[in-house]
Amino acid sequence: MLENHSGFVHSVMIGLLPVGISHTSWFLKKWKSGAMKKNLKINLILREENFGGILFDRHNLTYKFLSHEEVEQLDKNFYQLRKTNKEYPDNKIISAPVRVYWEITRKCNLKCPQCFNNSTSALPGELDLEECLKVIRGLKSDGVIEVRITGGEPTQKEGWDKLVACATEEGLVVSLNTNGVFSDDSTVEKIGRSGIDQVIVSVDGPKKIHEESRGKGNFKKVIKTIKKLNYYQTSVRANILLTKKVLPYIEEMVYFLKDMVQEICFMQLKPIGRGGKILSLAPSHLKMIEVDKRLGLLRKSYPELKISSGYDFIPTKKIIPVPCLDLTTCASGFRGCNLDSRGNIYSCGFLEEISCDYSLGNIVKESYSLLDVWHNSNKLNSFRKANLRKTRKCQKCQHFRKVCFGSCVVMEQYKLRKSISGRDPYCYKENERK
Ligand SMILES: C[S@@+](CC[C@H](N)C(=O)[O-])C[C@H]1O[C@@H](n2cnc3c(N)ncnc32)[C@H](O)[C@@H]1O
Ligand code: SF4
Ligand code: SF4
Repeated sequence: MLENHSGFVHSVMIGLLPVGISHTSWFLKKWKSGAMKKNLKINLILREENFGGILFDRHNLTYKFLSHEEVEQLDKNFYQLRKTNKEYPDNKIISAPVRVYWEITRKCNLKCPQCFNNSTSALPGELDLEECLKVIRGLKSDGVIEVRITGGEPTQKEGWDKLVACATEEGLVVSLNTNGVFSDDSTVEKIGRSGIDQVIVSVDGPKKIHEESRGKGNFKKVIKTIKKLNYYQTSVRANILLTKKVLPYIEEMVYFLKDMVQEICFMQLKPIGRGGKILSLAPSHLKMIEVDKRLGLLRKSYPELKISSGYDFIPTKKIIPVPCLDLTTCASGFRGCNLDSRGNIYSCGFLEEISCDYSLGNIVKESYSLLDVWHNSNKLNSFRKANLRKTRKCQKCQHFRKVCFGSCVVMEQYKLRKSISGRDPYCYKENERK
Protein backbone atom coordinates (compact mmCIF):
# COMPACT_ATOMS: atom_id res chain seq x y z
CA MET A 1 0.00 0.00 0.00
CA LEU A 2 2.81 2.34 0.80
CA GLU A 3 5.41 1.19 -1.63
CA ASN A 4 6.63 3.07 -4.64
CA HIS A 5 3.64 3.65 -6.84
CA SER A 6 5.10 5.24 -9.95
CA GLY A 7 4.82 2.03 -11.99
CA PHE A 8 1.21 1.75 -11.00
CA VAL A 9 0.28 5.21 -12.17
CA HIS A 10 2.19 4.73 -15.36
CA SER A 11 0.26 1.56 -16.18
CA VAL A 12 -3.09 3.28 -15.63
CA MET A 13 -2.05 6.21 -17.77
CA ILE A 14 -1.06 4.15 -20.71
CA GLY A 15 -3.85 1.64 -20.25
CA LEU A 16 -1.74 -1.43 -19.57
CA LEU A 17 -2.23 -3.81 -16.66
CA PRO A 18 -3.38 -1.72 -13.76
CA VAL A 19 -1.59 -1.68 -10.49
CA GLY A 20 -0.05 -4.53 -8.67
CA ILE A 21 -2.62 -6.97 -10.00
CA SER A 22 -0.22 -8.64 -12.34
CA HIS A 23 0.80 -11.04 -9.56
CA THR A 24 -2.33 -13.21 -9.65
CA SER A 25 -2.54 -15.98 -12.20
CA TRP A 26 -6.30 -15.65 -11.82
CA PHE A 27 -6.09 -12.04 -12.89
CA LEU A 28 -3.83 -12.80 -15.83
CA LYS A 29 -6.13 -15.52 -17.11
CA LYS A 30 -9.11 -13.19 -16.96
CA TRP A 31 -7.13 -10.34 -18.43
CA LYS A 32 -5.99 -12.40 -21.39
CA SER A 33 -9.55 -13.63 -22.01
CA GLY A 34 -10.56 -9.99 -22.45
CA ALA A 35 -13.24 -10.19 -19.73
CA MET A 36 -11.42 -7.71 -17.59
CA LYS A 37 -10.59 -5.11 -20.19
CA LYS A 38 -14.30 -4.44 -20.61
CA ASN A 39 -14.62 -3.95 -16.87
CA LEU A 40 -11.47 -1.95 -16.36
CA LYS A 41 -13.28 1.28 -15.71
CA ILE A 42 -15.20 -0.14 -12.78
CA ASN A 43 -12.07 -1.74 -11.33
CA LEU A 44 -10.40 1.53 -10.44
CA ILE A 45 -11.96 4.15 -8.21
CA LEU A 46 -10.52 7.60 -7.76
CA ARG A 47 -11.50 9.70 -4.76
CA GLU A 48 -10.40 13.30 -5.02
CA GLU A 49 -8.53 14.69 -2.02
CA ASN A 50 -6.98 18.00 -1.05
CA PHE A 51 -3.55 16.63 -1.91
CA GLY A 52 -4.66 14.96 -5.17
CA GLY A 53 -6.51 11.69 -4.88
CA ILE A 54 -6.69 8.13 -3.69
CA LEU A 55 -6.75 5.53 -6.44
CA PHE A 56 -8.30 2.28 -5.29
CA ASP A 57 -7.91 -0.97 -7.20
CA ARG A 58 -10.89 -3.17 -6.43
CA HIS A 59 -9.11 -6.29 -7.75
CA ASN A 60 -6.60 -6.52 -5.00
CA LEU A 61 -8.16 -4.00 -2.59
CA THR A 62 -5.04 -1.86 -2.51
CA TYR A 63 -4.84 1.87 -2.91
CA LYS A 64 -2.29 4.54 -3.67
CA PHE A 65 -2.08 8.19 -2.74
CA LEU A 66 -1.56 10.42 -5.77
CA SER A 67 -0.50 14.03 -6.08
CA HIS A 68 -2.54 16.51 -8.18
CA GLU A 69 -0.05 16.08 -11.03
CA GLU A 70 -0.42 12.31 -10.94
CA VAL A 71 -4.22 12.57 -10.93
CA GLU A 72 -4.11 14.87 -13.93
CA GLN A 73 -2.09 12.33 -15.85
CA LEU A 74 -4.65 9.55 -15.34
CA ASP A 75 -6.77 8.54 -18.27
CA LYS A 76 -10.34 9.41 -17.23
CA ASN A 77 -11.66 6.40 -19.15
CA PHE A 78 -10.01 4.09 -16.68
CA TYR A 79 -11.54 5.03 -13.35
CA GLN A 80 -14.80 5.81 -11.63
CA LEU A 81 -14.93 8.99 -9.62
CA ARG A 82 -16.05 8.84 -5.96
CA LYS A 83 -16.84 11.94 -3.96
CA THR A 84 -17.38 12.69 -0.30
CA ASN A 85 -20.61 14.51 0.33
CA LYS A 86 -19.06 17.37 2.30
CA GLU A 87 -16.12 19.69 1.84
CA TYR A 88 -13.65 19.86 4.71
CA PRO A 89 -10.70 22.18 5.12
CA ASP A 90 -7.25 20.79 4.52
CA ASN A 91 -6.53 19.41 7.97
CA LYS A 92 -4.09 16.66 7.04
CA ILE A 93 -6.81 14.05 7.25
CA ILE A 94 -8.25 12.32 4.22
CA SER A 95 -11.84 13.27 3.39
CA ALA A 96 -13.36 10.00 4.67
CA PRO A 97 -12.06 6.56 5.66
CA VAL A 98 -10.95 4.48 2.69
CA ARG A 99 -11.98 1.23 4.37
CA VAL A 100 -14.46 0.63 7.17
CA TYR A 101 -14.23 -2.63 9.10
CA TRP A 102 -17.68 -3.54 10.30
CA GLU A 103 -18.35 -6.34 12.77
CA ILE A 104 -21.98 -6.92 11.89
CA THR A 105 -22.46 -9.39 14.76
CA ARG A 106 -20.54 -10.94 17.62
CA LYS A 107 -22.39 -14.21 17.11
CA CYS A 108 -20.10 -17.04 16.08
CA ASN A 109 -20.41 -20.74 15.35
CA LEU A 110 -16.82 -21.33 16.58
CA LYS A 111 -14.95 -20.36 19.75
CA CYS A 112 -11.33 -19.93 18.75
CA PRO A 113 -8.82 -19.52 21.60
CA GLN A 114 -7.14 -16.59 19.82
CA CYS A 115 -10.29 -14.56 19.14
CA PHE A 116 -9.45 -10.91 19.85
CA ASN A 117 -13.08 -9.88 20.27
CA ASN A 118 -14.20 -12.85 22.38
CA SER A 119 -16.93 -13.77 19.92
CA THR A 120 -19.62 -16.19 21.08
CA SER A 121 -23.18 -14.79 21.08
CA ALA A 122 -24.73 -11.69 19.56
CA LEU A 123 -24.40 -8.59 21.77
CA PRO A 124 -27.58 -7.06 23.17
CA GLY A 125 -28.68 -4.15 21.01
CA GLU A 126 -27.05 -5.18 17.72
CA LEU A 127 -28.36 -3.19 14.75
CA ASP A 128 -31.31 -4.72 12.92
CA LEU A 129 -31.35 -5.20 9.15
CA GLU A 130 -33.13 -1.94 8.41
CA GLU A 131 -30.53 0.00 10.41
CA CYS A 132 -27.73 -1.94 8.71
CA LEU A 133 -29.03 -0.96 5.28
CA LYS A 134 -29.07 2.70 6.36
CA VAL A 135 -25.47 2.33 7.57
CA ILE A 136 -24.45 1.05 4.14
CA ARG A 137 -26.13 3.92 2.32
CA GLY A 138 -24.54 6.33 4.80
CA LEU A 139 -21.05 4.93 4.18
CA LYS A 140 -21.57 5.28 0.44
CA SER A 141 -22.71 8.86 0.73
CA ASP A 142 -19.74 9.64 3.03
CA GLY A 143 -17.42 8.56 0.20
CA VAL A 144 -16.08 5.46 1.95
CA ILE A 145 -14.63 3.17 -0.72
CA GLU A 146 -14.57 -0.30 0.88
CA VAL A 147 -16.64 -1.94 3.58
CA ARG A 148 -15.05 -5.02 5.13
CA ILE A 149 -17.79 -7.12 6.68
CA THR A 150 -16.60 -9.17 9.61
CA GLY A 151 -17.68 -10.38 13.03
CA GLY A 152 -18.08 -12.71 14.96
CA GLU A 153 -19.04 -14.84 12.04
CA PRO A 154 -20.83 -12.43 9.69
CA THR A 155 -22.83 -15.18 7.96
CA GLN A 156 -24.44 -15.94 11.34
CA LYS A 157 -26.30 -12.62 11.25
CA GLU A 158 -29.83 -12.85 9.99
CA GLY A 159 -30.12 -10.94 6.72
CA TRP A 160 -26.32 -10.80 6.11
CA ASP A 161 -26.94 -11.62 2.43
CA LYS A 162 -29.38 -8.69 2.04
CA LEU A 163 -26.85 -6.42 3.67
CA VAL A 164 -24.14 -7.58 1.25
CA ALA A 165 -26.52 -7.19 -1.71
CA CYS A 166 -27.28 -3.61 -0.65
CA ALA A 167 -23.55 -2.79 -0.36
CA THR A 168 -22.71 -4.18 -3.81
CA GLU A 169 -25.73 -2.44 -5.38
CA GLU A 170 -24.59 0.84 -3.82
CA GLY A 171 -21.24 0.36 -5.59
CA LEU A 172 -19.19 -0.01 -2.43
CA VAL A 173 -16.21 -2.32 -2.69
CA VAL A 174 -17.20 -5.25 -0.46
CA SER A 175 -14.98 -7.75 1.30
CA LEU A 176 -16.18 -10.44 3.70
CA ASN A 177 -14.09 -12.01 6.46
CA THR A 178 -15.42 -15.47 7.31
CA ASN A 179 -14.34 -18.67 9.04
CA GLY A 180 -15.74 -20.59 6.03
CA VAL A 181 -17.48 -23.19 8.22
CA PHE A 182 -21.03 -23.46 6.97
CA SER A 183 -23.75 -25.98 7.84
CA ASP A 184 -24.78 -26.45 4.20
CA ASP A 185 -23.86 -25.29 0.69
CA SER A 186 -26.41 -22.47 0.49
CA THR A 187 -24.15 -19.96 2.32
CA VAL A 188 -21.20 -20.39 -0.02
CA GLU A 189 -23.55 -20.29 -3.01
CA LYS A 190 -24.97 -16.98 -1.78
CA ILE A 191 -21.45 -15.60 -1.28
CA GLY A 192 -20.34 -16.83 -4.70
CA ARG A 193 -23.27 -15.16 -6.46
CA SER A 194 -23.19 -11.97 -4.41
CA GLY A 195 -20.62 -9.95 -6.35
CA ILE A 196 -18.40 -9.58 -3.26
CA ASP A 197 -14.98 -8.30 -4.35
CA GLN A 198 -12.93 -10.46 -2.01
CA VAL A 199 -13.69 -13.19 0.52
CA ILE A 200 -11.14 -13.45 3.31
CA VAL A 201 -11.10 -16.92 4.81
CA SER A 202 -9.17 -17.76 7.96
CA VAL A 203 -6.86 -20.77 7.73
CA ASP A 204 -4.86 -21.00 10.95
CA GLY A 205 -2.29 -23.46 9.59
CA PRO A 206 -2.10 -27.05 8.35
CA LYS A 207 -4.98 -29.37 9.37
CA LYS A 208 -3.68 -30.17 12.88
CA ILE A 209 -3.04 -26.53 13.85
CA HIS A 210 -6.21 -25.24 12.20
CA GLU A 211 -8.33 -27.82 14.02
CA GLU A 212 -6.64 -27.18 17.38
CA SER A 213 -8.07 -23.67 17.24
CA ARG A 214 -11.12 -24.03 14.99
CA GLY A 215 -12.42 -27.49 15.88
CA LYS A 216 -12.27 -31.02 14.53
CA GLY A 217 -13.44 -31.52 10.95
CA ASN A 218 -13.28 -27.81 10.16
CA PHE A 219 -10.12 -27.86 8.03
CA LYS A 220 -11.86 -29.98 5.39
CA LYS A 221 -14.88 -27.66 5.56
CA VAL A 222 -12.87 -24.49 5.07
CA ILE A 223 -10.95 -25.92 2.11
CA LYS A 224 -14.24 -27.04 0.58
CA THR A 225 -15.53 -23.48 0.96
CA ILE A 226 -12.44 -22.06 -0.77
CA LYS A 227 -12.77 -24.54 -3.65
CA LYS A 228 -16.46 -23.67 -4.07
CA LEU A 229 -15.56 -19.98 -4.18
CA ASN A 230 -13.06 -20.80 -6.94
CA TYR A 231 -15.94 -22.32 -8.87
CA TYR A 232 -17.77 -18.97 -8.63
CA GLN A 233 -14.52 -17.17 -9.61
CA THR A 234 -14.66 -15.22 -6.37
CA SER A 235 -11.37 -13.71 -5.33
CA VAL A 236 -10.17 -15.38 -2.11
CA ARG A 237 -7.57 -14.31 0.41
CA ALA A 238 -6.44 -16.72 3.12
CA ASN A 239 -5.58 -15.15 6.48
CA ILE A 240 -2.93 -17.08 8.37
CA LEU A 241 -2.27 -16.06 11.95
CA LEU A 242 1.43 -16.04 12.81
CA THR A 243 1.82 -18.03 16.01
CA LYS A 244 4.96 -19.92 17.03
CA LYS A 245 3.11 -23.11 16.06
CA VAL A 246 2.65 -22.05 12.45
CA LEU A 247 6.19 -20.77 11.78
CA PRO A 248 7.60 -24.16 10.63
CA TYR A 249 4.78 -24.53 8.10
CA ILE A 250 4.80 -21.16 6.28
CA GLU A 251 6.31 -22.47 3.04
CA GLU A 252 4.16 -25.61 3.15
CA MET A 253 0.98 -23.52 3.58
CA VAL A 254 1.86 -21.23 0.69
CA TYR A 255 2.53 -24.24 -1.53
CA PHE A 256 -0.74 -25.87 -0.46
CA LEU A 257 -2.90 -22.79 -0.96
CA LYS A 258 -1.23 -21.13 -3.93
CA ASP A 259 -3.58 -22.47 -6.62
CA MET A 260 -6.73 -21.96 -4.54
CA VAL A 261 -6.38 -18.32 -3.46
CA GLN A 262 -5.34 -15.03 -5.01
CA GLU A 263 -3.74 -13.72 -1.83
CA ILE A 264 -2.30 -15.06 1.41
CA CYS A 265 -1.99 -12.60 4.26
CA PHE A 266 0.16 -13.42 7.29
CA MET A 267 -1.40 -11.76 10.30
CA GLN A 268 0.20 -10.65 13.55
CA LEU A 269 -1.30 -12.34 16.61
CA LYS A 270 -2.65 -9.56 18.84
CA PRO A 271 -2.66 -10.57 22.49
CA ILE A 272 -6.12 -9.22 23.13
CA GLY A 273 -9.48 -10.74 24.09
CA ARG A 274 -9.04 -14.52 24.26
CA GLY A 275 -5.78 -13.94 22.32
CA GLY A 276 -4.38 -12.36 25.54
CA LYS A 277 -4.33 -15.84 27.09
CA ILE A 278 -2.04 -17.22 24.37
CA LEU A 279 0.55 -14.45 24.50
CA SER A 280 3.26 -17.12 24.89
CA LEU A 281 2.46 -18.23 21.31
CA ALA A 282 3.40 -14.82 19.87
CA PRO A 283 6.72 -15.00 17.96
CA SER A 284 9.35 -12.47 19.08
CA HIS A 285 10.36 -9.42 17.03
CA LEU A 286 13.51 -11.22 15.86
CA LYS A 287 11.51 -14.27 14.77
CA MET A 288 9.14 -11.96 12.87
CA ILE A 289 12.13 -10.40 11.06
CA GLU A 290 13.06 -13.93 9.95
CA VAL A 291 9.46 -14.55 8.87
CA ASP A 292 9.50 -11.34 6.88
CA LYS A 293 12.63 -12.50 5.03
CA ARG A 294 11.01 -15.88 4.30
CA LEU A 295 7.94 -14.12 2.91
CA GLY A 296 10.25 -12.08 0.66
CA LEU A 297 11.74 -15.32 -0.74
CA LEU A 298 8.26 -16.81 -1.21
CA ARG A 299 7.20 -13.72 -3.17
CA LYS A 300 10.12 -14.36 -5.52
CA SER A 301 9.21 -18.07 -5.85
CA TYR A 302 5.52 -17.37 -6.53
CA PRO A 303 5.38 -14.02 -8.32
CA GLU A 304 1.79 -14.60 -9.44
CA LEU A 305 0.49 -14.98 -5.90
CA LYS A 306 0.01 -11.96 -3.68
CA ILE A 307 1.70 -12.59 -0.34
CA SER A 308 0.93 -9.82 2.11
CA SER A 309 1.50 -9.24 5.80
CA GLY A 310 -0.59 -7.67 8.54
CA TYR A 311 2.21 -6.46 10.84
CA ASP A 312 3.60 -2.95 10.77
CA PHE A 313 6.49 -2.88 13.23
CA ILE A 314 9.09 -4.06 10.71
CA PRO A 315 10.05 -1.20 8.41
CA THR A 316 10.71 -3.16 5.25
CA LYS A 317 8.34 -1.24 3.03
CA LYS A 318 9.71 1.60 0.99
CA ILE A 319 7.65 4.62 1.83
CA ILE A 320 6.87 7.51 -0.46
CA PRO A 321 4.90 9.81 1.79
CA VAL A 322 2.33 12.19 0.41
CA PRO A 323 3.63 15.56 1.63
CA CYS A 324 0.80 16.46 3.99
CA LEU A 325 0.08 12.99 5.36
CA ASP A 326 2.15 10.78 7.60
CA LEU A 327 1.66 7.31 6.20
CA THR A 328 4.27 5.60 8.33
CA THR A 329 1.90 4.37 11.01
CA CYS A 330 -0.89 1.78 10.99
CA ALA A 331 -4.10 2.66 9.15
CA SER A 332 -6.32 2.98 12.23
CA GLY A 333 -7.84 6.44 12.46
CA PHE A 334 -5.84 7.65 9.43
CA ARG A 335 -7.08 5.59 6.54
CA GLY A 336 -9.72 3.41 8.16
CA CYS A 337 -11.94 2.94 11.17
CA ASN A 338 -14.24 0.35 12.72
CA LEU A 339 -17.90 -0.10 13.47
CA ASP A 340 -19.09 -2.60 16.03
CA SER A 341 -22.33 -4.55 15.76
CA ARG A 342 -24.24 -1.85 17.68
CA GLY A 343 -23.04 0.93 15.39
CA ASN A 344 -20.36 2.28 17.74
CA ILE A 345 -17.46 3.92 15.92
CA TYR A 346 -13.87 3.12 16.92
CA SER A 347 -10.56 4.20 15.44
CA CYS A 348 -9.32 0.60 15.84
CA GLY A 349 -11.22 -2.67 16.24
CA PHE A 350 -8.98 -3.78 19.09
CA LEU A 351 -10.11 -0.83 21.25
CA GLU A 352 -13.61 -2.28 21.60
CA GLU A 353 -12.29 -5.02 23.85
CA ILE A 354 -10.54 -2.56 26.16
CA SER A 355 -13.39 -0.23 27.01
CA CYS A 356 -16.45 1.42 25.49
CA ASP A 357 -14.82 4.70 26.69
CA TYR A 358 -12.91 4.58 23.41
CA SER A 359 -16.09 4.73 21.33
CA LEU A 360 -16.09 7.89 19.21
CA GLY A 361 -19.88 7.95 18.84
CA ASN A 362 -22.61 5.88 17.29
CA ILE A 363 -23.32 5.95 13.58
CA VAL A 364 -27.11 5.71 14.12
CA LYS A 365 -27.03 8.75 16.41
CA GLU A 366 -24.78 10.48 13.86
CA SER A 367 -27.58 10.25 11.25
CA TYR A 368 -25.75 7.38 9.56
CA SER A 369 -22.63 9.37 8.73
CA LEU A 370 -19.06 9.02 9.97
CA LEU A 371 -17.87 12.36 8.67
CA ASP A 372 -18.45 14.59 11.68
CA VAL A 373 -16.62 12.12 13.93
CA TRP A 374 -13.87 11.57 11.34
CA HIS A 375 -13.10 15.29 11.05
CA ASN A 376 -14.04 16.76 14.41
CA SER A 377 -13.75 14.18 17.18
CA ASN A 378 -11.25 15.25 19.85
CA LYS A 379 -10.88 11.65 20.97
CA LEU A 380 -10.01 10.58 17.44
CA ASN A 381 -7.49 13.39 17.07
CA SER A 382 -5.80 12.39 20.33
CA PHE A 383 -5.68 8.80 19.12
CA ARG A 384 -4.08 9.91 15.85
CA LYS A 385 -1.38 11.84 17.73
CA ALA A 386 -0.69 8.86 19.99
CA ASN A 387 -0.58 6.49 17.04
CA LEU A 388 2.08 8.62 15.35
CA ARG A 389 4.16 9.08 18.50
CA LYS A 390 3.82 5.40 19.44
CA THR A 391 4.30 4.37 23.05
CA ARG A 392 6.29 6.30 25.67
CA LYS A 393 9.08 3.71 25.63
CA CYS A 394 9.34 4.07 21.82
CA GLN A 395 9.83 7.83 21.99
CA LYS A 396 13.05 7.32 23.96
CA CYS A 397 14.24 4.31 22.01
CA GLN A 398 17.29 4.40 19.74
CA HIS A 399 15.70 1.80 17.45
CA PHE A 400 12.51 3.77 16.74
CA ARG A 401 11.96 4.15 13.00
CA LYS A 402 15.29 2.43 12.34
CA VAL A 403 14.97 -1.27 13.08
CA CYS A 404 11.53 -0.95 14.60
CA PHE A 405 8.44 1.05 13.76
CA GLY A 406 7.24 1.02 17.35
CA SER A 407 4.75 -0.98 19.33
CA CYS A 408 1.01 -0.70 19.09
CA VAL A 409 -0.52 1.99 21.30
CA VAL A 410 -3.72 -0.01 21.62
CA MET A 411 -1.84 -3.01 23.00
CA GLU A 412 -0.14 -0.72 25.52
CA GLN A 413 -3.51 0.53 26.71
CA TYR A 414 -4.79 -3.02 26.89
CA LYS A 415 -1.88 -4.08 29.08
CA LEU A 416 -2.30 -1.05 31.33
CA ARG A 417 -6.06 -1.37 31.72
CA LYS A 418 -6.01 -5.12 32.30
CA SER A 419 -2.86 -4.92 34.46
CA ILE A 420 -0.98 -7.37 32.23
CA SER A 421 2.75 -7.44 32.80
CA GLY A 422 5.58 -9.17 30.97
CA ARG A 423 7.63 -8.83 27.89
CA ASP A 424 6.19 -7.26 24.75
CA PRO A 425 7.04 -9.95 22.17
CA TYR A 426 7.01 -7.47 19.33
CA CYS A 427 9.40 -4.93 20.93
CA TYR A 428 12.86 -5.25 19.38
CA LYS A 429 14.65 -3.82 22.43
CA GLU A 430 12.95 -6.10 24.94
CA ASN A 431 13.80 -9.16 22.83
CA GLU A 432 17.21 -8.25 21.39
CA ARG A 433 18.85 -11.32 22.82
CA LYS A 434 15.96 -13.77 22.24
C1 LIG B 1 -12.37 -11.92 14.47
S1 LIG B 1 -12.34 -12.77 12.94
C2 LIG B 1 -13.97 -12.54 12.30
C3 LIG B 1 -14.23 -13.24 11.00
C4 LIG B 1 -14.36 -14.75 11.05
N1 LIG B 1 -15.10 -15.20 12.12
C5 LIG B 1 -12.99 -15.41 10.97
O1 LIG B 1 -12.57 -16.05 11.93
O2 LIG B 1 -12.35 -15.26 9.93
C6 LIG B 1 -11.42 -11.68 11.86
C7 LIG B 1 -9.97 -12.06 11.66
O3 LIG B 1 -9.30 -11.83 12.89
C8 LIG B 1 -8.34 -12.84 13.07
N2 LIG B 1 -8.03 -12.91 14.49
C9 LIG B 1 -8.73 -13.52 15.48
N3 LIG B 1 -8.11 -13.34 16.65
C10 LIG B 1 -6.98 -12.64 16.42
C11 LIG B 1 -5.93 -12.14 17.25
N4 LIG B 1 -5.89 -12.34 18.56
N5 LIG B 1 -4.95 -11.40 16.66
C12 LIG B 1 -4.99 -11.15 15.32
N6 LIG B 1 -5.95 -11.59 14.50
C13 LIG B 1 -6.94 -12.34 15.05
C14 LIG B 1 -9.00 -14.08 12.52
O4 LIG B 1 -8.05 -15.08 12.21
C15 LIG B 1 -9.73 -13.52 11.31
O5 LIG B 1 -8.92 -13.62 10.16
S1 SF4 C 1 -11.78 -15.80 15.20
FE1 SF4 C 1 -13.65 -15.74 13.94
S2 SF4 C 1 -14.36 -17.86 13.96
FE2 SF4 C 1 -12.94 -17.69 15.62
S3 SF4 C 1 -14.24 -17.23 17.42
FE3 SF4 C 1 -13.47 -15.28 16.57
S4 SF4 C 1 -15.07 -14.61 15.25
FE4 SF4 C 1 -15.42 -16.80 15.60
S1 SF4 D 1 10.76 0.56 22.45
FE1 SF4 D 1 10.56 -1.44 21.47
S2 SF4 D 1 8.69 -1.28 20.25
FE2 SF4 D 1 9.34 0.83 20.72
S3 SF4 D 1 10.63 1.46 19.02
FE3 SF4 D 1 11.99 0.61 20.57
S4 SF4 D 1 12.25 -1.51 20.01
FE4 SF4 D 1 10.43 -0.78 18.92
